[in-house]
Amino acid sequence: MTVQRIGVVGLGAMGAGIAQVAIEAGFDVVGREVSGELGDAAAARIGHFLTRKVEKGQQTEEERDAAVARLETTTELDALADCDLVIEAIVEELDAKRALFTELERLCRADAVLATNTSALSVTEIAAATASPERVVGMHFFNPAPLMPLVEVVRAELSADGPVATALAVVEQLGKVAVPCHDTPGFVVNRVLIPLLNDCVRVLDEARVSPESLDAAMANGAGWPMGPCTLLDLVGIDVHVHASEALYEKLREPRMAAPPRLVAMRNAGLYGRKSGRGFYAYG
Ligand code: 3HC
Repeated sequence: MTVQRIGVVGLGAMGAGIAQVAIEAGFDVVGREVSGELGDAAAARIGHFLTRKVEKGQQTEEERDAAVARLETTTELDALADCDLVIEAIVEELDAKRALFTELERLCRADAVLATNTSALSVTEIAAATASPERVVGMHFFNPAPLMPLVEVVRAELSADGPVATALAVVEQLGKVAVPCHDTPGFVVNRVLIPLLNDCVRVLDEARVSPESLDAAMANGAGWPMGPCTLLDLVGIDVHVHASEALYEKLREPRMAAPPRLVAMRNAGLYGRKSGRGFYAYG
């Protein structure tokens, strides 16, 4: 199936990043948020990043304006009815996602592909909320979506070949690197990265180093582009703890469980960049 119109449900950090990548690649995008204010804020953030690209000579003003014109934001799910592909990027809660997919199945065309950007939930369990699970796949982008090349294209138990092929083709059109995989807890990267980040936080206390020192160690000793504490602040401590809990529930491996220090940070609202404070403070 040829995709021209993409719906993105949820314009938080991930959804807005996905919408940005899609309009830059020439797709028409309908982004849905629960309020007009949240939709406007996401559109403004996308406009800001595209303008920075103009300032840095990475694209022309005309290209930016054309990309911005391809983005429409809405609060109505019905506005996604004529999309060829819908990518869900709402809160990481299974019940909320399952309810959304039931709605999407009802209002979208029968041949539309329905994709979830879930990090750690089961795509198969989300698809099972619909009567057409064959058209449900995972398209897992990485944070920040406009900068990270990878998209895991996840085949759930009942995904059909056509929708998987459509998702792979879209990833290629987005100029990203697709890694197709099956629906297992954490897929590929998070299966490795989540316990690794949890180990990093345990080392903070065991080796009695500061977040700054641990970040310097991993950046300079292991070549990480950003240290683990900076990365956790970027991903969101809440998002990471939630993903750890989801993986621990499925795999029962102690390394998957979030260290108490991270759980305490999450409980205190120290989410990282988005809340203004995590391991570091943000102005
Ligand atoms: N859109 C466009 N541009 C953006 C942007 C966005 N959303 N966000 C940041 N930028 C811009 C910045 O504004 C900056 O430009 P400017 O400052 O000149 O205006 C430009 O990108 C480059 O920023 P940096 O100087 O910070 O770029 P770096 O070269 O340092 O690279 C990075 C940034 C790519 C994020 C790199 O540090 C990196 O690879 N970090 C690791 C990130 C990672 O591992 N992500 C995966 C997280 S796990 C995950 O997502 C899974 C999930 O399920 C939890």
